[in-house]
Amino acid sequence: MNLKGRDFLKLLDYTPEEITYLLDLSAELKAKKKAGIPHRLHEGKNIALIFEKTSTRTRCAFEVAAMDLGMGVTYLDPTGSQIGKKETIADTARVLAGMYDGIEYRGFGQSIVEDLAKYAKVPVWNGLTNEFHPTQILADFLTIKEHFGKLRGINFVYMGDARYNMGNSLMVGCAKMGVNFTACAPEAYFPNEELIETCRTLAAESGATLTFTTDPKAAVKGADVIYTDVWVSMGEPVEVWEERIAALSPYAVTKDIMATASEGAVFMHCLPSYHDLGTTVGRQVGERFGRDFMEVSDEVFESEQSIVFEEAENRMHTIKAVMAATL
Ligand code: CP
Ligand code: NVA
Repeated sequence: MNLKGRDFLKLLDYTPEEITYLLDLSAELKAKKKAGIPHRLHEGKNIALIFEKTSTRTRCAFEVAAMDLGMGVTYLDPTGSQIGKKETIADTARVLAGMYDGIEYRGFGQSIVEDLAKYAKVPVWNGLTNEFHPTQILADFLTIKEHFGKLRGINFVYMGDARYNMGNSLMVGCAKMGVNFTACAPEAYFPNEELIETCRTLAAESGATLTFTTDPKAAVKGADVIYTDVWVSMGEPVEVWEERIAALSPYAVTKDIMATASEGAVFMHCLPSYHDLGTTVGRQVGERFGRDFMEVSDEVFESEQSIVFEEAENRMHTIKAVMAATL
């Protein structure tokens, strides 16, 4: 398998075999890291990280992975560069590609990262756009494989806002890898028809099933993985909280929902999460709407079934594999 020079912009661009290769490489690099075996595969190279939205996991994962691979890193924060304000993406791409061996981009429309890749002659990696979050899905799938020993045939249920980056990317990943995907949400929160159609074709090839339902109890019966994400994503106005809480409250992951899933089911979340009132936003919204959690109850988040921190750690191992393979 040779992925050298490839961008990593969305899972739709990668075959199931290539995704499997990246997951296997992630496991290999993780084992090396745990055993203290150096793996400075890209000694002397340098990468640039462009973040037009904030981050904890993705930024740290890219930085630590780059350092483990022997590379230098420059972090450009949402306000600290000329991008978008004084310099176009096309110009930025050509400037950075002259100095760096790879570029990560987190920001708004998918078209921006696609443009960046078009103009940069070095690999570009998508660190999250409104439409897709492909490196997150690699971490999720590595975690599922570690936990269940397989991906194919797993019953995966996504609860909540299924038409944004997480719902979209998980649907694509599941359809490609033979994971049975259910989106459980009000109809207005299902992924768009065009993407569903593309995924139906992929699912027909992999043997995955795709289900769209508004009924939480029916959705989670027999589920192995229950996954959710925040109801209001980065870049969305605070005003949308009211409509999201009204529409998505029945889709919050509670103990009752987990009890309806398979025995041995796990809870996953890309994080960050509003599972209690311990954050500024969580507290403000919670107090305003009389809730002490949003998309997942604290009880589920802190339960034995929750594997969210293993999942978060795997961001680093999988992002490392993407860079190791494409540089
Ligand atoms: N899951 C994820 O992408 O987290 P960050 O926003 O902290 O990078
Ligand atoms: N849907 C979330 C994912 C965060 C990792 C967002 O875009 O903010």
